[in-house]
Amino acid sequence: MAVLDILKLPDPRLKRLAAPVGRFDRGLRELAADLEETRLAGPSAVGIAAPQVGRLERIVIVDVSGRPKTPNHGYLVLVNPEIVHWEGFAIGREGCLSVPDYTGNVIRATGIRLKAQDLEGRVHEYVMEGFEARAVQHELDHLDGLLFVDRVVSRRTDLHRRKVHQT
Ligand code: NI
Repeated sequence: MAVLDILKLPDPRLKRLAAPVGRFDRGLRELAADLEETRLAGPSAVGIAAPQVGRLERIVIVDVSGRPKTPNHGYLVLVNPEIVHWEGFAIGREGCLSVPDYTGNVIRATGIRLKAQDLEGRVHEYVMEGFEARAVQHELDHLDGLLFVDRVVSRRTDLHRRKVHQT
């Protein structure tokens, strides 16, 4: 396992479309392990997506179980994830390992139904709400070359410079 370098804005690789995962092999399991080690190595991130380490493949990790009072499915490796249903919307504050100096207010669905494969290629369906649903929507954006700064309504009023870096 290895801690990988996180690409930061404005690296153009963050703006590219990631390709579907076709092979559920050892290489994929190693990528998932490296992503998890990288997620845990930095400031407490609830998610990470493969394009953030320069791998343009449709795989993300989400784990919001460290946040109190948030319904969640624990540690999830989501391969070829696809949101098949959205409901509600709310504004919430987001950060990103690739945008270390800012947080931003972003509108997201409050509830989603998600289809994704696991590392063995099995298909799962999840019903998610609240912060977990937000984190998944954020990570899936990375697979389509989108960052939260692309979704703020106003860069002037909805982006906030971080005062200190969390460690
Ligand atoms: Ni992010």
